[in-house]
Amino acid sequence: MDLEEVRERAREVLRGICRVCAVCNGRNCPTGVPGMGGAGTGEGFRRNIDALASWKLNLRVLHSRKVQDTGFEFFGHKLPFPILAGAIAGAKVNFGGRLEEREIARALVLGAKACGTVALTGDGPDPEVFSAGLAAIKEAGGWGIPVIKPRANEEIIKRIREAEKVGALAIAIDVDAAGLLNMTRVGQTVEPKTVEDILEIARSTSLPLILKGVMTVADAEAALAGGAAGIVVSNHGGRALDHTLGTADVLPGIAAAVQGKLMVLADGGVRSGVDVLKMLALGAQAVLVGRPLLIAACGGGPDGVKAQLESLAQELTVAMRLTGCGNLRDISSEIITPVRS
Ligand SMILES: Cc1cc2nc3c(=O)[nH]c(=O)nc-3n(C[C@H](O)[C@H](O)[C@H](O)COP(=O)(O)O)c2cc1C
Repeated sequence: MDLEEVRERAREVLRGICRVCAVCNGRNCPTGVPGMGGAGTGEGFRRNIDALASWKLNLRVLHSRKVQDTGFEFFGHKLPFPILAGAIAGAKVNFGGRLEEREIARALVLGAKACGTVALTGDGPDPEVFSAGLAAIKEAGGWGIPVIKPRANEEIIKRIREAEKVGALAIAIDVDAAGLLNMTRVGQTVEPKTVEDILEIARSTSLPLILKGVMTVADAEAALAGGAAGIVVSNHGGRALDHTLGTADVLPGIAAAVQGKLMVLADGGVRSGVDVLKMLALGAQAVLVGRPLLIAACGGGPDGVKAQLESLAQELTVAMRLTGCGNLRDISSEIITPVRS
């Protein structure tokens, strides 16, 4: 599938919402939140891009790593590469209903599964958002991870039971959605979570619990103390709070504090295999990709998502070869240099 044709079709579908720019960097978005851009000034979205760009790779080609293995162990499952599809939901509010919620969820979940990797799905004030994700995960034989909003614990646990029924691989909570006005305005609680709250949720299920939206060492340590099996270093693509740091700014400190104790994933501004490699060198075990995969889903459905993921994986392979890495264990801070402008 030709990715340029996919992007051209997506440009039509998303007209007035997203320009499907050559590089998706938050500099020319016609919309913020709702839409495809960032919250407020969009600075958090742009900082993700700039933070990644401030790290440069050390080209290294005189070495013995002639074959690259991008295989990644994810909670007992072998994935072909360390790139997952992030949750993109809220079709009615974000895309003016031009796409059906179930269509997006299906494209992301089935497209990811078609190339052996995993997608996350979303949650929102409209019950259709969560159920569309679950339906897609069910269709994929449980191969997906629902992300639940940081609702009251009993509401979260109710949704965990539903996720268990469809055989989901893990459960995630986007803890950075604790201030989401479109939930509170319609009387649906979202709230910051204490370590005790997290413990109660983690103990309610045998599935791994992933907390998405961790941007400080303190929150990473709270996630660990609460029994989370993983975190996503994420600022929700700059959509939760304006003027946050970029994820690549905070990732090294967080990874140093909790690496080896829980799984560290990261997202925000990953646009190429080179960006994937940078995130791994900064301490992530795998990355999530958001907006580029929604664009691929709009323009090409599951096949578009698969093609975009495979293109990123291919770029990662080349970038690993040119930095002396044969497998993911070879990737370390040795291969990157910060260049502060
Ligand atoms: C339109 C849109 C909808 C999103 N919906 C959700 C969601 O329902 N749940 C969630 O955890 N993250 C959601 N996200 C955030 C993404 O999962 C991811 O963290 C972010 O997009 C990564 O940044 P990137 O788009 O720069 O790759 C959404 C992002 C966008 C752009």
